[in-house]
Formats: sequence, C-alpha cells, structure tokens
Amino acid sequence: MAGYEAPGDIPLTAGESAIALRHGPPYYFGVIPQWLIEKKRDGHALTPEEIHVFVQAYTAGELPDYQMSALAMAIYFRGMTAVETAALTDALMRSGDVLDFSGWPRPTADKHSTGGMGDKISLILAPLAASAGLAVPMISGRGLGLTGGTLDKLDSIPGFDSRLSIEAFRRVLAETGCAIIGQTDRLAPADRKLYALRDVTATVPSIPLITASILSKKLAEGASTLVFDVMCGRGAFMRTREQAQCLATSLCHIGRNSGRRVSALITDMEQPLGRTVGNAVEVAEAVEVLHGRGPADVRALTLALTAQMTLLTSVHADAAVAARELSARLDDGRALEVFRRMVTAQGGNARVADDPSRHLPQPGASLDVPAPRAGHVVFVDAEKIGRVVLQLGAGRRRTDDAIDPAAGISALVQCGDTIARRQPLLRLHARNTAMIESLRAAAADAIEIADEPRPRPPLILETIHENATKPFR
Ligand code: URA
Repeated sequence: MAGYEAPGDIPLTAGESAIALRHGPPYYFGVIPQWLIEKKRDGHALTPEEIHVFVQAYTAGELPDYQMSALAMAIYFRGMTAVETAALTDALMRSGDVLDFSGWPRPTADKHSTGGMGDKISLILAPLAASAGLAVPMISGRGLGLTGGTLDKLDSIPGFDSRLSIEAFRRVLAETGCAIIGQTDRLAPADRKLYALRDVTATVPSIPLITASILSKKLAEGASTLVFDVMCGRGAFMRTREQAQCLATSLCHIGRNSGRRVSALITDMEQPLGRTVGNAVEVAEAVEVLHGRGPADVRALTLALTAQMTLLTSVHADAAVAARELSARLDDGRALEVFRRMVTAQGGNARVADDPSRHLPQPGASLDVPAPRAGHVVFVDAEKIGRVVLQLGAGRRRTDDAIDPAAGISALVQCGDTIARRQPLLRLHARNTAMIESLRAAAADAIEIADEPRPRPPLILETIHENATKPFR
C-alpha cells in the first residue's frame, strides 16, 4: 500500500514497548496491542519482549480474548520465526510454576506423544525407563477427541490418584523413579487459557502455536531430556508426514534451544497401536507388555522411545545396549515391579498388574464382531476405529464429558493376521447391548480383508535429532 508505514516499523525499541506494557494501566503507554497484532498480521517478526508482554497481559486478564484471538489468527497465517516461537514458549511456561530437579541423583527424562488410537506407551515406558535408572516426572493429559488420554487410562485403575499435589508428585517420583499426574492449575496456566481460545477460533493447527503449547508444559515439568513421539496418519492430530516432520523439527529445535536434550520419532498412525483401544482395556494390554508379552508393535515402539531417553541421558552407551537392556527389563519383570510400586504410591490397586481382568472395571455388555469373509487383514482404519470407540463411551466430545472406563475395543485384528469366515475381528465393550448393536457394522467397516497379504508399513518412519534446524512456520 503506497505511503503506508507498517506499525511494526515504528521506531520504538523492544525494551521500551515491553516496559510500557508491563507497567500499566494503561499498559499500552508506548505501544497498543493492536499495533502488535498489525505487525504480525503484516508479516513482521515480534520481539521476544513484545511476546512476553502480550502473554503477561493476557494471563493477568488485562487483554481481552478478542485481541489474543486476533494475534493467534495472525500467527496462524503468518507463522513465527524460531526466535518468536521460543519466546512464546518461554512466556507460556513462565506463566506458572516451573519444577526444578537439578541436583537429583537420577537424570530426569520424559516422553510426549501427540497421541493416536491405542497409544498406551506411557504406561509401559515410564516404569521401564525408571527401572533403567531414570527419573520420569510425567505430567500428562486427558483425551479430547476420539479416545481417552493417558490419565483416563490410569484413572480406570481402582483408587489411582492422578491429581496429586506437586509435593506428593515429587515424593512418588523420589520413591519409585516415576509418577504420572494431570496438568495442575499452576502449570503453564496461560497455555490452558490460550488453548481454550484457539479451540474455538480455529487456530489450533499452527506449528508455532502447537510447539509453544506442548513445550511450555513439558519445560515447566522440569525434565532435562525430552523425547517426542509425533504420530502421523488418519488416527493422529498430524495427518501427513510433512506436517509431522515440521512439528517434530520445531519441537526439537525449540527444545534444544531451551537447554534440553531432545529427539523425536515420527511414527505411523494410519492403523491403531496394539489390539486394544479404550481405557481399562489399554491398561490390561500395557500390563501384558510389562509381563514380556503383548503385541509386537506396542513393545517395539515402547523400546524405541525408551531407548531414545536412555541414550540421550547416557544411561546406555549405544542403541544395541539399550535394546538388549530394556528388553530384558520387560521380560524379567523389573519394569513391572516399578509399575506396581508407582500404582501403589499413587493410591491404586496394584493387583491390576497381576490380574487385570479381575481388578479393572468391567463393561455392561461385550460382543464379538465376526469376519464377513476369510482372508488376510490388510488394513485397520485408525480413524474409523476411533469413531466407534468414541461412540462406545471411551472418549469425549467436550472437556466435561464423562468417560466409561470399561468401554472400548479388545482382541482387535492387525494387519498381517489371517482369519477364517465368522472368526472375531474384534470385541466391542460398552454400557449396554443396544450401544454395541448400533456400532457393529461401523466396527466391521474399519477392517479391510483381502485374498493376498500386504505387509504393514513401518511403524517408525524416521528419527529427528536435537540438531534439527529446518525452518518452520
Ligand atoms: N496439544 C497441546 O498440548 N497443544 C496443542 O496446541 C496441540 C496439541
């Protein structure tokens, strides 16, 4: 536009605008919020100070939702540089408590997954990594979308308390080497507020906003090493490999610049992980893997992610040693013993570790869905399975929806299985028979059977290391 001077070019130093905004009211003494929105809207980079001030004002309730939404939308369209993304991450993290484990005798490490159907890896990985000498302070989420999150799964264990105070969380961590709780009000509260706003303003799918949101919570948790499982495919948040690469690179880049050791696996989420999808059913399957049994894909991914943690913290010298050592800990019960101790320390009934079918919640009704024909299972559609599981009652549409812990799918066939006509494809669990009957056809429709077998594509698509520097938006 001729003669138009972008507001971002107004010669105010970053320090001036920061000070002006911090010492309100009126907080916009030197710069007004819409100038920052305009600056981003027109494609200029905000300074770290401007970002901090904007987030501080929003968290303090001094900046209205409509201005924060406008900035989020401008970021959605214009992206952010790495410096801006790091500043946003830092501002969100500093809006609440930041845990500090420096001086602890064990190296601290955690894993974050962007989530997918049948993802019960955290339940196995945390005790496995702890059994190998790490401290795993895991602050996890509840699911919003097709299935429950790690916390919903753990909450299906009778007595398990996922709402420990930070003090109790530290105590369990010191005693057992791992603890898993939900996000507290004191951890990254600005992210909670901003995420709720993004959810209703169509600004969730933005790489810098997602990076800052995930990392602010993980950095506040205090672990010095972070491993990300960025799932991609129809059952995941990131639909394409390119999107997953972009997010993984961004998480690694900003994580490393925040002083953490980081790496990320990009994993396939076209088909569900394992043979169960739900909450209690997934705990039972995780226990199977902790007994050295269970589906090969769940075991393989758990071992690969845990190995990233032990390698980055130098607990294991190389990948071969990590694979051997960690496999042995699953097979000889050492990881299972840590799981028992963690469940007990968090108030849960540790007998689930020995006899899950007796001690986990049981469904009101269950039903096998038979195969319409004989053949080879060549594809299980993770998205279709997720929709069925949501309608069975295992997931939430809104944050305040209640979950049925016993609902879900078990005994699910996997790509590579051979089946006879009328042999079960899967077992549905729900509150009553009517719910199950209405979903039988949809469940069967998720599974493709062919005359010839087709190999399952690789589960781990690539590894992104901490020296990731690719630019991102
Ligand atoms: N998960 C988060 O915690 N934040 C996002 O923005 C997206 C997924």
